[in-house]
Amino acid sequence: MQDIVGDIAVFKHPVQECDLRAAADRFFAARPGVKVIALKTSGMSGPGRQSSHIVVAGENRLHTTHKEYGIQTKVHVSDAFFSQRMAAERHRISSLVEEGDRVLILFAGCGPLACMVAKRTSAAETVCIESNSAAFQCLLESRTLNKIDPLRMPCFLADVRDFPTLPTHVGAGLVHSAQRARLPTYTRLVIPRPKIEPEATYLDIVLQVADVRKGAMIHYYDFATQEEISTGAPRTLSLLESTCKAAGWKIVGTPSIFRASGAAIGIKLYRICVDFRVLPDNLE
Ligand SMILES: C[S@@+](CC[C@H](N)C(=O)[O-])C[C@H]1O[C@@H](n2cnc3c(N)ncnc32)[C@H](O)[C@@H]1O
Repeated sequence: MQDIVGDIAVFKHPVQECDLRAAADRFFAARPGVKVIALKTSGMSGPGRQSSHIVVAGENRLHTTHKEYGIQTKVHVSDAFFSQRMAAERHRISSLVEEGDRVLILFAGCGPLACMVAKRTSAAETVCIESNSAAFQCLLESRTLNKIDPLRMPCFLADVRDFPTLPTHVGAGLVHSAQRARLPTYTRLVIPRPKIEPEATYLDIVLQVADVRKGAMIHYYDFATQEEISTGAPRTLSLLESTCKAAGWKIVGTPSIFRASGAAIGIKLYRICVDFRVLPDNLE
């Protein structure tokens, strides 16, 4: 099985060299858009979600521009995370964005969701945080490719644990709300966590910058088995409830659970997204 990212066909499983050559010939003949055939030689590792690939045919490069729903994303298939299988999920999130939303995207990666939101919605601002410098470079290039004004899509090369109080982040907030000497706040916060540190929700961090006025909307990603999904993801929900409570917030209404990608990650684990609103615990 292979993925097509931009003009790169990425084979994931070890195949015989002769099979790969035959597959390469088939691809180049059947899909003139494919210019590179690469073989993924390691799984993703580390917080930056990097992996190893070798080019086996075509042009000798591992960077490309991927297009989905009319949005262009610059991707380096080894040095940065990108999954074209999450295109429909990104489209789902961007279609929920309301006029004037201040959107915060943690773990922004190469920027496919951020660019879709900034380009296709009437969000007031789409702020991105990413700590892998290769992914961050792709994010900036994606913003340029889509002709998005940097003021509408500020990007911070930072660890999500540190960004709220970064002087540049605080300063950017002050530009947009000059009279408030406090942290910028967001009405919609997206947390597409990497599959590391299962208990780290990062909610305590993002809740520092959630807009309290009408209940900030959170899109929180987790990994769950089919059985957990069918029973309403109780493990995920109870972790979210207890983390919100500890930080002085409460979940309002019933969270909605979506399968974020059809493909299983690892052995029978699926990426899910929980959409929910939060309000300060002391507000009725
Ligand atoms: C699952 S990917 C999400 C990518 C992106 N949202 C997308 O749709 O393509 C997780 C991203 O989080 C970044 N990351 C991991 N740990 C981080 C941290 N502590 N602070 C900021 N970014 C981090 C990784 O480099 C990676 O790009």
